[in-house]
This record gives sequence, structure tokens and C-alpha cells, in this order.
Amino acid sequence: MAIRRFLLAGVFTFVLTGVSVAQPKPTIAIIGTGDMGDSLGPKFVELGYAVIYGSRDPDGEKARAVVEITGGNSRATTQREAAQAGDIVVLAVPWPAMETVAQNLGSLDNKIVIDISFPHEQGEDGYYVPMLETSSAEMIQQWNPGARVMKTFALQASYVIDDPDVVGGPVSIPIAADDREAKEKIAKLIVEMGHDPIDAGPLRYSRELEAMQRLYGVAFFQRREAAWEFHFRRSYYWECIWQDDWSAPVVDAGDLAQMPDTQGEARECPGTGALE
Ligand SMILES: NC(=O)c1ccc[n+]([C@@H]2O[C@H](COP(=O)([O-])OP(=O)(O)OC[C@H]3O[C@@H](n4cnc5c(N)ncnc54)[C@H](OP(=O)(O)O)[C@@H]3O)[C@@H](O)[C@H]2O)c1
Repeated sequence: MAIRRFLLAGVFTFVLTGVSVAQPKPTIAIIGTGDMGDSLGPKFVELGYAVIYGSRDPDGEKARAVVEITGGNSRATTQREAAQAGDIVVLAVPWPAMETVAQNLGSLDNKIVIDISFPHEQGEDGYYVPMLETSSAEMIQQWNPGARVMKTFALQASYVIDDPDVVGGPVSIPIAADDREAKEKIAKLIVEMGHDPIDAGPLRYSRELEAMQRLYGVAFFQRREAAWEFHFRRSYYWECIWQDDWSAPVVDAGDLAQMPDTQGEARECPGTGALE
């Protein structure tokens, strides 16, 4: 039903304006040409985005191979040039390198900056321990106050981006961010990729996502044959406060601060019939 509403809205817009003007897709800079870079890049290109890799060695064999795998509208340049050319900048470098990298990309003001890093190290017992008191995303925001920083693409391995079927299908991809418009844009990108975007709250909730990364690591450190993926099941409660339709605005913190009266009679969620 939600999809039908969305399609109908599109038809009305078309009828009213008579023309549909295609907006050019934003350019995505991916800093780092490793496992995550070369998984996300080809997916973005498939969806029609221009991808610019930022590499320490843009003319080297590795960067050239990644550009070749990515195909389409992709190229490699220096990390700084890539970041400057991108509307969206994915920081796909290891956390220990992040402080230097994230402070040397030039101004990131108004750019959507995506932190996917794992700021953890293995403790004495072999399991992850955090390297930070806050979160990597908050640190990146502190270094770049004008950027629209978010933490996302942080709870799945690169092979899940390559082929979700290897883990049984699409996964939930939570987004923690303070910038509502940026969050919606990336949520829509995640939908285009066939995954399930989850509004994981404000940027400071990156700490919770990083705790989930440590959970994700447990099965790997135990060398279990079967690990797990995060795939949240939708449930409808609190009078549909959780919007399932990403064409509608996400619920912002202001609305969340005024929870509806949950003692009242449950109302049917439009389009779901879940509480019928
Ligand atoms: N692999 C996964 O499944 C996965 C999943 C989710 C999140 N992550 C996170 O995503 C980030 C990237 O992971 P990855 O697996 O792609 O790592 P990776 O394979 O080690 O690649 C990282 C890339 O970052 C660049 N880089 C490495 N050291 C650097 C340094 N000292 N200074 C500047 N650039 C450097 C390199 O690109 P150039 O040689 O071209 O400069 C390198 O190929 C990490 O923070 C990781 O925790 C990984």
C-alpha cells in the first residue's frame, strides 16, 4: 500500500508538471581501495552514481584494478582530490589511519561523510575491546565540524555488500546521524541497494552501533561456521511511529521526545493492517 501511495504521488506530480526532470545523482568519493571500497564502489556505479576513489597510490596497480572492477563512471585520484570532488564521502580506511586521513581531506563542510570503521582492538581474551570512549563517528565530526557525519554500512562484512544472498538475503543497515536530510538521502541509497535502512538515532548512537560491531565479531573470533547478520524485523506499535515508507520523512528527535499516549486504543497503521 505504501508503495502504491508513493507511485500515485509520482503520477500526480507528473500530471501537474507535465515533465519529469531527472536530478543528477551525487558523486560518491570512497577513501580507501580495500575490501569495503571495492565492494561499495561497484554497487554505487551499478545504481548510476559516479564513484571517485581516493588512494595513497592512485596510479598504482591496486587502485587501477579497483577502478577496472568498478567500471562505469569511476576513477581514482588522491584522497584529498577525491574527497573534494565527492558530495558524499565514504571513509573506508582502517580506524588507526583515520585521524590522519580525516583531517587531511580539505574542507568537508556540507558533505555527507560516512564512517564505516571498526574502532576496536582484540583484548587479552581475543574479543573486541573499544579503542575510544565515545565513537569514531563523533571523533570525525569533531575534526570536521561542518561535515554531515554519519555512521552506517558498519554492521555487515564486505561480502554481504557484494552478494547478500550468501547470508540469506538483504540485511538491516542502521544509520546514526544528526542531520535528518542526510540520513534520508542515505536511507534511500540503501533501499536502492536492496537493503533495509534503520534509523539508529542521533550521531552519538554510533556508540551503540560500535557495541553491535563487537557483537558481530564474536562468532568470527570463535571461528564459528555460522555467524549472524543484523536483520531487524519490522513491527508496528506506538501508533505507527516507526515509518516504513522512506519516501516520507523520518521521525526526528523532536517528535520522539513527545511520545504519543500508548495507553490509548491501538490504531491501525496505514497500509499495513498490522493492528487490525
Ligand atoms: N572489510 C569489511 O568487511 C568491513 C566491514 C565493515 C566495515 N569495515 C571497516 O571499513 C574500513 C575499511 O575496511 P577494509 O576491510 O576495506 O580495509 P582494507 O582492506 O585494509 O583497506 C583499507 C584501505 O584504506 C587505505 N589505507 C590503508 N592504510 C592507510 C593509511 N595508513 N593511510 C591512509 N589510507 C590507508 C588503503 O587504500 P589505498 O592503498 O588505496 O590508499 C586500503 O586499501 C575499516 O575501518 C573497517 O573496519 C570493514
